[in-house]
Amino acid sequence: MRKNIVAGNWKMNTTLAEGVKLAKDVNEALKGFTPNCDVVIAVPFTHLASVNAVIDSSKLGLGAENCADHVKGAYTGEVSAAMVASTGATYVILGHSERRQYYGETSEILKTKVALALENNLTPIFCIGEVLEERENGSYLEVVKKQIEDALFEMSAADFSKLILAYEPVWAIGTGKTATDDQAEEMHAFIRKVIADKYGAEVAENTSILYGGSCKPSNAPQLFAKPNVDGGLIGGASLDAESFMGIVKAF
Ligand code: PGA
Repeated sequence: MRKNIVAGNWKMNTTLAEGVKLAKDVNEALKGFTPNCDVVIAVPFTHLASVNAVIDSSKLGLGAENCADHVKGAYTGEVSAAMVASTGATYVILGHSERRQYYGETSEILKTKVALALENNLTPIFCIGEVLEERENGSYLEVVKKQIEDALFEMSAADFSKLILAYEPVWAIGTGKTATDDQAEEMHAFIRKVIADKYGAEVAENTSILYGGSCKPSNAPQLFAKPNVDGGLIGGASLDAESFMGIVKAF
């Protein structure tokens, strides 16, 4: 069966010292009990190796927030999937709406990034989601379906099964405006059907689909209670160990 997962996305926040402290705090908080979900933190590239050194990887997964769309070479400033993996990280967020919006990441680019992540044994947390206009004009289901088809549907079923998906309505990210549990469930059930139509019911049933967008300890229990919501990708609320743990404990 699919896993429940709560993953933090720190984005461009924390200095190295602050990040190591936050990771230690989360690690410490996980020592006392066994959560009913996998817990992951995705941190800036600069923090990966140091954070890896202070966490118990059997209780807390580590990921990057992006990786390059090239294997290696003359791409100044880029960080490859192999480099990410060499730090001890085992996850990578790909296709976040901020990457699509501010850094021009297309489905073509993302296809390559997903392939490189998998070649380096990184588990992609692949993000999809509509903007407000698409929510309001009613095209949101089609938009998300196309994002999935364009970037992922050339993959084999075996490779697709290695992915985690994260539905993040762009209008809910960092806005304090969460999708309702019914809005999330509608989309998650739809995504699962899109996967089932392509790869079959078993692959669809085994795919974890996380919700992201202003998820907090107060709204997580309701969202996670929905049958097709398998956890969360958490931005702002992951920057504080207590609120992040509050979401972990929602399961
Ligand atoms: P948020 O971000 O929780 O701050 O809305 C979620 C995300 O972008 O992954």
